[in-house]
Amino acid sequence: VEAVGTDARSRAIRVIGAVVRDGAPLRPTLARALGDATGAERSLVTDVAYGTLRHLHALDAALSARLSDPAALPGVARDVLRAGAYELLVRGTAAHAAVHAYVELLKATPGPAARLSGLVNAVLRRVSWADVTDEAARLSLPEPLWAHLRAALGDEAAAAARAMLSPAPVFLHPYTADAAERLVAEGCTVQPAALGTLAVRLSRPLERLQAFREGAVQAQNPSSVAVVRALGVARGERILDVGAGHGIKTAQLCAAGASVIAVDVDPARIAAGRANLARLGFSAEHVVHDATTSQAGLAPVDAALIDAPCTGTGTLRAHPEIKLRWSEAASERAAAIGAAMLARVAERVRPGGRLVYAVCALGLREGPAVVAAFLRDTPDWRAEPIATPLPMRDAAVGSWLLPTDAGHDGFYLARLERRG
Ligand SMILES: C[S@@+](CC[C@H](N)C(=O)[O-])C[C@H]1O[C@@H](n2cnc3c(N)ncnc32)[C@H](O)[C@@H]1O
Repeated sequence: VEAVGTDARSRAIRVIGAVVRDGAPLRPTLARALGDATGAERSLVTDVAYGTLRHLHALDAALSARLSDPAALPGVARDVLRAGAYELLVRGTAAHAAVHAYVELLKATPGPAARLSGLVNAVLRRVSWADVTDEAARLSLPEPLWAHLRAALGDEAAAAARAMLSPAPVFLHPYTADAAERLVAEGCTVQPAALGTLAVRLSRPLERLQAFREGAVQAQNPSSVAVVRALGVARGERILDVGAGHGIKTAQLCAAGASVIAVDVDPARIAAGRANLARLGFSAEHVVHDATTSQAGLAPVDAALIDAPCTGTGTLRAHPEIKLRWSEAASERAAAIGAAMLARVAERVRPGGRLVYAVCALGLREGPAVVAAFLRDTPDWRAEPIATPLPMRDAAVGSWLLPTDAGHDGFYLARLERRG
């Protein structure tokens, strides 16, 4: 067990280093590091990598109180301290076991960092949450991002930020009546979850399950399901799905009986979306198109869904590296693309038709500000209320779907109707 633990922890340290210092995205980097690891090893690497990155700002604040110049340490020594502090302060690994594991791991590291094992030992023995007093640090957010979330969510911001620190189950949207039974037969643990989804503990990686390969399920967070439901699709309607990507929401629209035109600017995503729909037994018309420009040849549609590109601040739980890269400038760029998409796509919706504008970001600029500006400039559209059983908070226009302890992602969405 100890040998497995040491190997798993070094893999996690390599993932953390690649994400923090080399700008690598977490999910594919972790998948490569996991290879075909199974069972306890797989779950330890995953938990230490995700957990350390989710709590990174808080852990750095706790460690800073015990170090004179953390930035001067070799990167690997810092990452060993971060992962060790995560195990001690969050994961709850017994102190002697955690300290021993990380000190030995550093000793075995090639290069000068190995000489810092004494320092790592001393720091890990003293690291404490009591040293973290700043509110943003306690929520493990950089200060500008914390201010950004607070401006949008007010007194719900702290609970939302805290919820995004904890792991969530894998949510699967079932597309066959026997999906849950098939998952159980393959060794998964399955619980019913919000909006007809299944909260699943996977027995092996999703892509290796027959139930997935044969189109019985699609990974989809309940908040994402709620976004499509907000459009209220009727059988036979023509729906424009903009920013269709891998087709997660396209599939839901198809299942509701719509005839879907799936648009994305990225040909690789369009190809992936087409393949994903085929796996699920659906089909749509796929179009590579930059939706910030007019799709003039397209006949008017009954409704449109815009799942706009965004900074993803409602998905910090699944993508904690967003906290390391987020900036006001990135949020401005995303908002400008979203605003142009909304203006152009709205032109393709028939009078009396409707549109849902959504982003998985929790800032005013990428959500309500885009929609408010559109409504100001386009008087034949108006906002309509949204009904969903998920925890929600009204924005000035539209609503926030709140990140929750149950594992729901955060989204902004607005439902708009074109006057007849
Ligand atoms: C949030 S993701 C969409 C996820 C997708 N709807 C799903 O549920 O699987 C946003 C998508 O917008 C696409 N996108 C970005 N800029 C675009 C543009 N100018 N025109 C069309 N699509 C764009 C991206 O390629 C990406 O696939």
